[in-house]
Amino acid sequence: MRPQERIEELKRERNAVILAHNYQVPEIQDIADYVGDSLGLALQASKTDADVIVFCGVDFMAESAKILNPDKVVLHPEPMAKCPMAAMCTVDGIKMLKKDFPKADVVAYVNTSAECKAEADVCCTSSNAVKVIDSLESDIVIFIPDENLASCSQRETDKGIIMWPGYCPTHDSITKEKIEALKKEHPDAVILAHPECPPEVIDIADFVCSTEGMISAARSSDKTEFIVGTETDMIHRLTKEVPDKTFYPVKGAVCPTMKLITLDNIISALENMAPEIVVDEEIAARAREPLRRMLEIGR
Ligand code: 13P
Ligand code: SF4
Repeated sequence: MRPQERIEELKRERNAVILAHNYQVPEIQDIADYVGDSLGLALQASKTDADVIVFCGVDFMAESAKILNPDKVVLHPEPMAKCPMAAMCTVDGIKMLKKDFPKADVVAYVNTSAECKAEADVCCTSSNAVKVIDSLESDIVIFIPDENLASCSQRETDKGIIMWPGYCPTHDSITKEKIEALKKEHPDAVILAHPECPPEVIDIADFVCSTEGMISAARSSDKTEFIVGTETDMIHRLTKEVPDKTFYPVKGAVCPTMKLITLDNIISALENMAPEIVVDEEIAARAREPLRRMLEIGR
């Protein structure tokens, strides 16, 4: 039996749904019930009626799914699939910032641990960061942990943003020079950039958007060529959903931990109902509010 068929069989047996991020390898995207960006995945996780969620992405995404569904089993097929940016933020550091800026609201990018989310007033993703920041009462916000997303949002809001020095190593490797070299090769191509990219890349981008936003931007544009300033497996979904257009990846922009999820470890997770995501109930209760507030604000 092909691994894809075995997964279908196990999914039926367990009443499971497979959620996959846009950076998963093509064969995982192809077997998933839903493929999307962080916000889309959190929304799907909040409304599924499956008993089991198999989360194909990194730790904070699977953890958010569990926090939103405390009564469901959330399987994360490879626990080593962790986001290094999420690991750059600490609870002690947030507490110090709160002490220094007592009037500031805390916005946690979803790329954070459950413990850090528990310290926040609201969560956001790359697709609604500015909307979330502008929804807050306070004139100043502490934004954790991505400095590039924070500075990109600062261009569009009058609120003062206190930034945390976190960054995504994958998006940090997308340099202005690499984008300019691609543009030289493909002068008519539109430059799409994820807001986790460095400011010099944001400066020259035509569209700055989340991974889901890239699909809409490519679909609605009258242009036919795009330089994709994000993780390279995003090209798979773009090509599938917008087949009449051409997409150019940025060499080396790979998120290694996203690639740790495989067909084999999905089969093993469904057979053994493990590894399962467990979040301390007190932390989960505190982290649920900022996540729910983010979902209410929406895209
Ligand atoms: P998106 O929400 O745009 O999919 O981004 C998630 C992420 O981890 C980007 O590196
Ligand atoms: Fe984390 Fe960057 Fe990978 Fe996204 S691409 S999961 S931010 S390391």
